[in-house]
Amino acid sequence: MVGKKKIHIFDTSLRDGDQSPRCQLNTKKKIEIAKRLEELGVDVIEAGFPISSPEDFNSVQKISQSISHTTICVLSRALKKDIEIAGISLKNAKKPRIHTGIGTSNCHIRYKFNSNPDKIMDIAINAVKYAKKFVEDVEFYAEDAGRTENNFLARICENVIKHGATIINIADTTGNCLPENYGKKIRFLKENVKGIDKVLLSTHCHNDLGLATANSLYGIINGAEQVECTINGIGERAGNTSLEEIVMILKKNHYLNLFSNINTKLLSSISKLVSNYTGIKVQPHKAIVGLNAFTHSSGIHQDGVIKKKETYEIIDPKEIGVNKSSIILTSKSGRAALNYRYKKLGFNLSKNSLDIIYSIFIKYADKKNEINNEELKMIIKKASLNYKIFK
Ligand code: KIV
Ligand code: ZN
Repeated sequence: MVGKKKIHIFDTSLRDGDQSPRCQLNTKKKIEIAKRLEELGVDVIEAGFPISSPEDFNSVQKISQSISHTTICVLSRALKKDIEIAGISLKNAKKPRIHTGIGTSNCHIRYKFNSNPDKIMDIAINAVKYAKKFVEDVEFYAEDAGRTENNFLARICENVIKHGATIINIADTTGNCLPENYGKKIRFLKENVKGIDKVLLSTHCHNDLGLATANSLYGIINGAEQVECTINGIGERAGNTSLEEIVMILKKNHYLNLFSNINTKLLSSISKLVSNYTGIKVQPHKAIVGLNAFTHSSGIHQDGVIKKKETYEIIDPKEIGVNKSSIILTSKSGRAALNYRYKKLGFNLSKNSLDIIYSIFIKYADKKNEINNEELKMIIKKASLNYKIFK
């Protein structure tokens, strides 16, 4: 990718995604998802939060053994005990990373920690210093950075970089930012933090206002090099940035001069796997991987797509591993789609026959969501009994 800047894809489906309410992952499923994430080409797999439970600790250990070249990252609070357990859990990882940090907004400092900015600064520095005793690669997260005052955020970033942080995660934990503000925050840090060029700046955006993907995009346009995201956008509350969305945005917009290492042909299958394993359904109209994302239903669109796919498809479904788009027959469909579907069944209808069949079809379609092939055959049988449609 000559001249393009690489965006590192940090997948947190197994950590933030696992925090989705009613998520049904266990160690066996996590190992399989981790293997598929490695195949997909993610740069980092956040495998869990080892102090949170023995099962989580165990799955991080097992994932570390099963993954050959992708960085395995684990979460910890800025506490010695968390960091120690994180370090132990990563003993078998080929490329281990500890992700440690603390809330930096006034709201978190005052109400969560009953503390003050100076004490939070010390805790952050000490956490990074301690994590460095276990691994070389230490990512620092500023939790609720989206609501953190920029000058304090810059100071804390500068200090943790000085003490060895290799990646800085600017978390919009509450999904509070607008894309422009989040982008400006990233640019401000790029321009005002000493040492920022020696580390990767990371986005971690939540979707409380439906802006997680847009915010991540503005983050990387303004200088961030890593995006933290999940398959299908699963995650705490309204979820995280969706991996498939950010990756396809980069792929479709060459002018951004950004690329990821993701093999997009595997996106559809991993989306299905994660949905099955977590028990979290993908909404039908979800971008890229939703059931309807490549389904055309209305007559105007169907007519266009039959003439030229690009009229209503900006992504070739094959690019994400879906064989082809589909034309479904509903009461919103027109003659073009009906004729197209009959052709696929082997019927070549004259204009007159199509008009007759369409008038029967539309009465059925008004009563049903979708007309299937068996019903199409039944309609043609009915029409041929009453009209000389093939003469
Ligand atoms: O949303 C968040 O702030 C997080 C951090 C723990 C990285 O998930
Ligand atoms: Zn998060």
